Amino acid sequence: MGEVDQTFIQAADHRPKLETIEFDGIPLIDLSTGDIKVLVSEIADACKNWGFFQVINHGVPLELFTKINIAAKTFFDRPIEEKRKVKRDEVNSYGYHESEHTKNVRDWKEVFDFLIKDPSFLPASPDPEDKEIRTLRNQWPENLPEFREVCQEYARELEKLAYQLLELMALSLGLPSNRFDSYFEDHTAMIRFNHYPPCPCPELALGVGRHKDAGALTIVAQDDVGGLQVKRKSDGVWVPVKPTPNALVINVWSNEAYESVEHRVVVNSERERFSIPVFFFPSHYVMVKPLEELVNEQNPAKYKEYNFGKFFVARSRGDYKKLEVEDIQIHDFKII
Ligand code: OGA
Ligand code: NI
Repeated sequence: MGEVDQTFIQAADHRPKLETIEFDGIPLIDLSTGDIKVLVSEIADACKNWGFFQVINHGVPLELFTKINIAAKTFFDRPIEEKRKVKRDEVNSYGYHESEHTKNVRDWKEVFDFLIKDPSFLPASPDPEDKEIRTLRNQWPENLPEFREVCQEYARELEKLAYQLLELMALSLGLPSNRFDSYFEDHTAMIRFNHYPPCPCPELALGVGRHKDAGALTIVAQDDVGGLQVKRKSDGVWVPVKPTPNALVINVWSNEAYESVEHRVVVNSERERFSIPVFFFPSHYVMVKPLEELVNEQNPAKYKEYNFGKFFVARSRGDYKKLEVEDIQIHDFKII
C-alpha cells in the first residue's frame, strides 16, 4: 500500500468526477421508537426515497463496536506476510485481500472477509448446468486468539439486527413480518473489514468505485473519518453519509418497490478509514424474483428470476479475476 504506479494513474482517467454536495438528508431512524406504525412508515419512506438510511438505538451493545474496531485494526496492523497466510483465493473467497493499484483495479483498500454461518454453501461455478455445491469455511489468522471470538460475537448480534430489519421491511411493504425468513435459512451472509489507508492521490482514486451491493440488505459500521457517498435517487448527485456516533448505515436490496442504490467510497490523504459492512445474502438456492403479492397487471415484474448462488459466484469471479468488464449487477436481469 502507498505506492501509486503509472498505470494506476492512467486508469484513474475513467473514474467519475468527485463532485459532491455538503448535505446529508439521509434519514436517521430510531429503532427504539415504541410506535411500530411510525417506525414502519419511516422505514417505508427511507427505502422508497433513498434506499439508504442510518439507524440508532439498534440494540447492538455499544462496547461491541469498540471491540470489533480494535480487532479489525489489530489484524490490519499485522505484517503483510502474516495477513497473506489467510489470503482469499479462487476457491475460498473468504479471508484477506489487498487491492493492487494497477490498471483495472479500482479500489484503494485492503479487506478481511468472514462468513456469519461457518460453513456456508455456494455453487462451485456460475455455470447453470454445474450442480456441484461447495462448502466454504472461514480462515482465521494465527496468533490473534481474541480476534475470532470477537468476530463471532459481532456476527451473532448483527445477524439478529438483520432479521429485525427484514421484518420491518416486510411490514413496510404490507407483508407479514416473517415473509422473507425462508429465503435466509441457509444464508450466505458475510462480514467485511474494510481498511482504506491514506491515499497520496485521493482525487484520482476511490476506496470503492460506484456499485450496488448484491444482497438483500447491508449494515455498515463506519468510523468518524467519512468517505461513503450515496447517489441520490431524485437527481443523481453524490451525497456524503455523515458519520454519526453509534449509528449503523443500512442499504437495502433491489426489488420492484425498493431499488438498491449506487454508492462509493472516496479516500483522503490524511487519515486512514475503517468500515465494517455486513452483507446479508440469502441461501444459495433461492430464486430471486419480485414477490408474487407485489406483482400484478399494472405493476408487472421488471426483473427476470435468477438463482442467487450462481449470480453471486459469477460476480465474485469477476471481482477475483479483475476483469475489465464491470461486475454483474442486478440491472443485468432487468426485463427490457
Ligand atoms: C462496500 C461498501 C462502504 C464503506 O464495501 O460494499 O460500500 O463505507 N463499503 O466502506
Ligand atoms: Ni457497498
